[in-house]
Amino acid sequence: MNSTTQLFDELDPAPRLLMGPGPVDVYPRVLRAMSTPMLGQFDPQFTGYMNEVMALYRQVFRTENHWALLVNGTARAGIEACLASLIAPGDKVLVPIFGRFGHLLTEIAARFGAEVITLETEWGGVFEADRIADAVRTHTPSLVALVHGDTSTTMAQPLDEIGRICRAAGVLLYVDATATLGGNPLEVDAWHIDAVSAGLQKCLSGPPGSAPVTFNERVVERISSRKHIEAGIRPEGYTAGPGPRIASNYFDLPMLMDYWSPARLNHHTEATTMLYAARECARIVLAEGLEHGFARHRLASRALRAGLEAMGLELFGDAAHRMANVTGVVIPAGVAGDKARGELLEDFGIEIGTSFGPLHGKIWRLGTMGHVCRKANILRCLSALDAVLRRNGFEAPVNAGVDAAYAIYDGEG
Ligand SMILES: Cc1ncc(COP(=O)(O)O)c(C=O)c1O
Repeated sequence: MNSTTQLFDELDPAPRLLMGPGPVDVYPRVLRAMSTPMLGQFDPQFTGYMNEVMALYRQVFRTENHWALLVNGTARAGIEACLASLIAPGDKVLVPIFGRFGHLLTEIAARFGAEVITLETEWGGVFEADRIADAVRTHTPSLVALVHGDTSTTMAQPLDEIGRICRAAGVLLYVDATATLGGNPLEVDAWHIDAVSAGLQKCLSGPPGSAPVTFNERVVERISSRKHIEAGIRPEGYTAGPGPRIASNYFDLPMLMDYWSPARLNHHTEATTMLYAARECARIVLAEGLEHGFARHRLASRALRAGLEAMGLELFGDAAHRMANVTGVVIPAGVAGDKARGELLEDFGIEIGTSFGPLHGKIWRLGTMGHVCRKANILRCLSALDAVLRRNGFEAPVNAGVDAAYAIYDGEG
């Protein structure tokens, strides 16, 4: 029960180091950008910022697409905008599932009336491109929807061949890159990805609540035939597209395109503060250089993984396909996973994650993303984990974790 005084207290949470699967600590520059004063949504300064956001995210996504914009809401809002706009009732959609978020794509596609065809593989692995090629040939879907990095399993699906397969078959490819963008290579154009969405709270190290998306002219062609501008803002002489109306108003990409174009047709009120955050996230990752950022994520994960293995812990999943920013580690036999995780949080202020579904209570997930992805944090996490494990009955060789991570950073590993 909160007393009246507590209700009037300012927020003052205990400091945390967020090393779970996201959200993660926000870049201080992003926090500062978020305290920038409000602007009206049609103020030329603000529409100028919207244009800058488009230019910045084209670079982050490595695309020449004109359309790179923000959907307001968490990463799932970006997914819904792409799928709501791309799927008409009865469309066949192929969803290869290798973790929780493939199930999410299936669920969303089905809600928009798709006939969903799923492929499944064991959690901890990814798909061979041939398997997806066979399914595309057999089922002739109009869309393949696929997760890039599934944080629930920590696996990253290689996409380059899948993009080629879809393009050759005339099938559109949508990718959920929420958990990979900014920390793992993602080549939207070179890999022939037609539409992709993300979030800020992983490798971009922003707060959850804004979903960058990009899509190409193939997507524009498909969705434009479904353009239905809402009454009250229709320009003179407007006629609706011949296709079925997109089932969501908020996630209607053609209306968002009008808002993010010189027409500035009023749709929603852009989430000003989240746009400032998204803009600053992109500026930070681009100023560092995408390749440099990917290398920083790879190095931190290599050091963390070397440390965990030296402690006698087993890493989860197919070693060849791990994401560069999340590591799954098997909870050792006899250790109560949630209790140990709680002690790490309460006693050391470090948050790590567990997983979902078949992996709940079986693995922990350690994130090394964005602002958090630094040597000091890797060493802190390993030494704290060592202490907590010791209290919970698992004895790692003395200093083994930290020493192994040091060796990687010293260039010896
Ligand atoms: C791969 C993936 N997709 C989608 C989501 C959903 O993101 P949000 O919770 O921001 O809606 C997550 C969040 O962890 C994710 O990792």
